[in-house]
Amino acid sequence: MIINSILRHFTKFESQTLGQQLIDQALTYKSDPRLDIAKGVGKRIGCIFLNPSLRTRVSTQIAAQNLGMEPIVLNMDKEGWALEMKEGAIMNKGTVEHIKDAAAVLGSYFDILAIRAFPTLTNRDEDVNDFVFGQFIKYCGIPVISLESAIRHPLQSLADQITIQENWKGKSKPKVVLSWGPHIKAIPHAVANSFSEWTLGMGHDLTITHPEGYELDQEFTKGASIEYNQSKALENADFVYVKNWSSFNDYGKILSTDHSWMLTEKHLKHAKNAQVMHCLPVRRNLELSDQILDGKRSLVQKQAINRIYAAQAVISHILDA
Ligand code: CP
Repeated sequence: MIINSILRHFTKFESQTLGQQLIDQALTYKSDPRLDIAKGVGKRIGCIFLNPSLRTRVSTQIAAQNLGMEPIVLNMDKEGWALEMKEGAIMNKGTVEHIKDAAAVLGSYFDILAIRAFPTLTNRDEDVNDFVFGQFIKYCGIPVISLESAIRHPLQSLADQITIQENWKGKSKPKVVLSWGPHIKAIPHAVANSFSEWTLGMGHDLTITHPEGYELDQEFTKGASIEYNQSKALENADFVYVKNWSSFNDYGKILSTDHSWMLTEKHLKHAKNAQVMHCLPVRRNLELSDQILDGKRSLVQKQAINRIYAAQAVISHILDA
């Protein structure tokens, strides 16, 4: 009943209780994917992409189909009309359709709307307030699932927590490290924010390591240890999550591409049993070495598989609401 009242929308971490319920449900679906094949019959989920995707797009469709639901994908960036997001805009420039009209139409076609909307990385206020995402929620009138917003990627984070739970064999809490990796492009903060939010929320200890200037928004990292010395942060790590993000304080800027931060076997000489995670897509031999990605430590393919069951658990609970 807690789930039913909370999950009108799935956009962020809500509570450890709900997180664990979703993990348990996802693991049940993983062992029997078609267990609830009748649950979504006659219902449709609209998957609206304002930005590219491989895993999120496909895993969400498989998840919906496992529940008997019909998924319809709209690549809004390529196939839809250019949307106007601002209230009261005089639409005499490039935008063709207002979000008020488009979201209301989509809300009448679907039972659930799932949306991917990346940040601008230029307008920090708009991004921090998840403006585009909020406009869809405001005007569609139906439950919304985040397929990654300007500041969070909760389905990825749920899959990551499932993967940690499945692969942790120790008795005490694991040491989890989020390690910044170099990149040539300005990358959003959503995966790093959400990983921190969910890892701390699920009661794990989290150390975050990055070059100075790459501090994340404290809203997501309260309770984590920040360690600028990567070698020290990685000592005795059990799980190392590698991710690039651009600067938050100097918003959207690339301050460093220091290759010494790319995780290699050498970095893990004092973390013999560390398992390595990345949400993918990964820039090989820039963020992470081939040796790690293709070796025994890597959990990246397991994380990607768990994307299906994370989405299935979330859709299932929203259908129950
Ligand atoms: N991890 C992830 O969200 O992958 P995609 O961007 O390919 O969906």
